[in-house]
Parts: sequence; C-alpha cells; structure tokens
Amino acid sequence: MSNNFTIINNKLHIGNILAEQLVQEFGSPLYVYDASIIKQRFTDLTSSILYPKTIFHYACKANSNLEIIRLLKAQGAHIETVSPREVEIAFHVGYKPEEIVFTCSNLSYDELAWLIGNDVLVNLDSLTQLRRWGEIKSGSSVSLRINQGIGAGHHEHTITGGIQSKFGIDREQVQEAQKIAKQYDLQIRGLHQHIGSGILDERIFLLAMEKLLETAMQFPDLEYLDFGGGFGVRYHKDEQALEIASLGKKITKLLNAFMKSYGKELVVRFEPGRFFVAESGVLLTTVVEVKRNPHKTFVGINAGMNQLMRQAMYGAYQEIVHAGSVKGEEEQVSVVGNICESADFFAREQLLPTFSEGDVLAILDSGAYGYSMSSNYNARSQPAEILVDGDSARLIRKEYVV
Ligand SMILES: Cc1ncc(COP(=O)(O)O)c(C=O)c1O
Repeated sequence: MSNNFTIINNKLHIGNILAEQLVQEFGSPLYVYDASIIKQRFTDLTSSILYPKTIFHYACKANSNLEIIRLLKAQGAHIETVSPREVEIAFHVGYKPEEIVFTCSNLSYDELAWLIGNDVLVNLDSLTQLRRWGEIKSGSSVSLRINQGIGAGHHEHTITGGIQSKFGIDREQVQEAQKIAKQYDLQIRGLHQHIGSGILDERIFLLAMEKLLETAMQFPDLEYLDFGGGFGVRYHKDEQALEIASLGKKITKLLNAFMKSYGKELVVRFEPGRFFVAESGVLLTTVVEVKRNPHKTFVGINAGMNQLMRQAMYGAYQEIVHAGSVKGEEEQVSVVGNICESADFFAREQLLPTFSEGDVLAILDSGAYGYSMSSNYNARSQPAEILVDGDSARLIRKEYVV
C-alpha cells in the first residue's frame, strides 16, 4: 500500500484523522488532501534542483482549489496557467504578473490581447500567436514554446511533444519564428517546452532538456528557459518512482554546464503539477451495493467517472483501499461508479479487500487531475474538498450540485 498514509489499527488515516471519521463528518464522495504531503513534495523537488536561478511554477491545472494554490504559494511556488480564468485565479490568490507563466494552444486574439494587457508572460504556442503578439505589441519581448520532437507521458493522451502533438512551434519552424519576430521587432527572450505528463523515466526528461538547450544556442538574447512539468509519481507499486534527488543533481549539472557555454546565467523555470499534489489526495467514497453476478463481482460506489475520470479517460491505475479494514480477506472484483456509462470503472478485475455496503472505499493518489477534471455529467455533483493538516480538517470547497 502507498506509504503516504498512516494505518493505525488496520484503519486508514489522513494526517492524524481517521478516514471514516471524515466521511461521517463531511459525507462522501469527498476529496481529502494532506497538506504535509504537498509541503514534502515541494521540498523534495525544490531541494534537488540546485541551479541558483531556478523558479518553480505550480501548474495549477492539476488542482486549482484556491487553498491548495495558497498552500503552494506559501511554500514559495510561482504559478503556471493555461487559460485566462486560471490567470484570474492566480491574481485572486495574490500572484503578481511576473510570477505567472501562461501556455495555451488555440488562444483567441482577444484572449492573447487580454494576457498582454495584464503583463502575463506567455509562451507562444504557434506562429499565429507570435504574429498576433507582434500586431498587438510590436517591439516587446516574447517567449516561444518549442516542440523539439520528443514526447513522453503515462498515456498517449498526456504526451505533448513529437509530430503527433498539437502543442508548440515545430523545431523545424524555429527560423521562420525568428523571421516573424524580426518583422515585428520582437526580442525572443524565452524558450519553453513541456513534453508530457507522468514521466517516470529520467532519461527522456534529460534528453528533452538537452534538446532544448541545443536549440537555445541559436538564440543569443535569451533571459529564461522553461522546461515545463511532467515529473511523474508512482501510482502502482510495480512502477519505479522517479529518483528525484538523483534527477535533480543531473539537471543541476546540465544547467551549470550549459550556462557556462552560453556565457550567461539564464533564469530557469519548471512547471510541476502532478508531482506536488497527486499523492496528497484521496477520494473517499462509500460502497452502496455489491453486485455478485454469476461471472463477475461489481463493487458499486457512490462516486462516478465524472468525479474522478483518470481511470475512464486514461485507463489509469490508482490504488484502492478499504478504509476501515486495510488488510483483510480479499477477492477478485471490479469497482464501478454510479454514472450511466460503461467506462465508469475505478478498478477492473483486481484482487481487493472484500467490501460490503456502507464501507468506506478510498481511492489513493487522487490529488492531481482529480477534482480539476471533474464535471456534473449525469447531473451528479462535484464533491466537497477537505484539507487536513495534522489533527485538523477543514472544508476548502463545498459540494457543487447543478
Ligand atoms: C504547459 C504545461 N506545463 C505544465 C504542466 C504540468 O504537468 P504535470 O502535472 O505533469 O507536471 C502541463 C500539463 O499538462 C502543461 O500542459
């Protein structure tokens, strides 16, 4: 079982609080986040990359609850955004424009103009965006998102580099981008890439960094480089977790060497989302029915794919725990939700603890791309969210019912 949470008397605890008690108090389904895990992951990553001019921008798409953003802000995180509304959220929690980076494909002219008007640093995703920037604000500085031809991720839907990807300016169009910049008297001050999400192989991450550094040599006037997010977490016990301390050392070495040959110390940015928050979150649900068909057993819970869609969308694995009896008898079951869709599965034919009606079933590692990807499909609600800090638990968002 994931070692992020405590088991006392065979019962799941989040912080020092019994999971079952949280369900009794706040109901279910319920998203619960453990603040100490977020702080720990922030420290793990930021203390491993020691290049002095590094800034960490929390990719708030992973979990845009205001209190989670505030918590990371208090740790020292800047913020990464992908829609004008996320920028407004960043302003709302007190971020200054210079602490925000923005990247988005298929941005409308008006949206781009709004971002420029608000002094937000935009990593331009296409030649069209670059041209429009020039029309709106010629003579200014810009940053380009480059697709270096390398992508990686835990699923094809989370790969954002390579020729299949819609993201970024293709590396073969770099010279064209330079021409457009010249035409509008734009100075290219930043290069960005984000190759995908859920990367567990450090080699691909380092390789992609090297590629961007190679490209950076063609741009003599840079001030910053942004390597995106993508740091993966271990969802399944058979996966090899990223050795973040060792990766950090390699990244530091690579950056120090590059800056020497570039002849100037550039600002470096990373945009982690998942890594900071995924392991802090649990979706607590209640078993409403156990359907024992002749060939299969379905454990039915009071949550659905609208509330946590990673399994339905990516076939993702997340560990399931019987909160009231973590170790006990097991049987082969599927865990299914209450949405009218055949994809509404949280586990398929897995050996899991024997569940009965009323038991609390916890889906671990739900802190990233859980609530933030939820919807009101089937007119089901978006669950309440709770932040646990040691002995205290507080409501950080009410259940949203359509
Ligand atoms: C541009 C950009 N930066 C950062 C991230 C964060 O990725 P992750 O949560 O894998 O760190 C994403 C996620 O898709 C992204 O699109």
